[in-house]
Amino acid sequence: MSGLFISFEGGDGAGKSTQVQMLAEWLRRVHQREVITTREPGGTALGRVLRDQLLHGQDLDARTEALLFAADRAHHVATVIRPALAAGAVVLTDRYLDSSVAYQAAGRELPADDVERLSLWGTNGLLPELTVLLDLPTEHLAHRLGDWTDRMERAGIEFHRRTRQAFLDRAAADPARWLVLDAALSRAQIAEQVRTAVGPLLDEPAGSGAGSTAPGQVGEEH
Ligand code: TYD
Repeated sequence: MSGLFISFEGGDGAGKSTQVQMLAEWLRRVHQREVITTREPGGTALGRVLRDQLLHGQDLDARTEALLFAADRAHHVATVIRPALAAGAVVLTDRYLDSSVAYQAAGRELPADDVERLSLWGTNGLLPELTVLLDLPTEHLAHRLGDWTDRMERAGIEFHRRTRQAFLDRAAADPARWLVLDAALSRAQIAEQVRTAVGPLLDEPAGSGAGSTAPGQVGEEH
């Protein structure tokens, strides 16, 4: 059974971690799959040090910030994600490379190609087979302004508007990889739509009901 790599993206508070847990539970219970749930930044011991500095450390210039997110990702891929995929697991990550393109390129206004290439180099070209975008209007963040405590959250409403638009633009440019969902839907409705997209990506023996098409080909039907 081959591994399957899925990322969840979206603004702060869009409900990504809940959906990661709901999908993991379904994959384990209904499909008996080995599932690894993880996140960026901070999916490794080194990553947790980087996460603490990135979110709660001193101010960083944009390029340093981009390099540290990419370093977190490179180590995460090399030590957690690739080994799990090689063992046939499903890997669900709360944020991945597209967050860097949205936050460090569109948000911090670095060239998107540079930021994307940096992560592709760091990960030796690993992209998810499916990326679920939980999209929320930026305005919903405004009422949480008072609660914002980390460096990324403090970047301001215009910054977050640019990150949202970058996610939407990337999704529109590569519909085979992306599933865009309205994060204002109920948890159950979102989970159902995620399962509908993930089901055909599970290569299970013929007759098991979930289809046997290889990952990467099915995505083109989205
Ligand atoms: P986190 O507390 O995990 O928030 P969320 O619930 O929104 O995922 O904080 C991660 C923050 O780091 C979030 O504001 C997005 C930001 N980030 C980047 O700027 N670049 C990246 O490459 C990644 C992975 C995250």
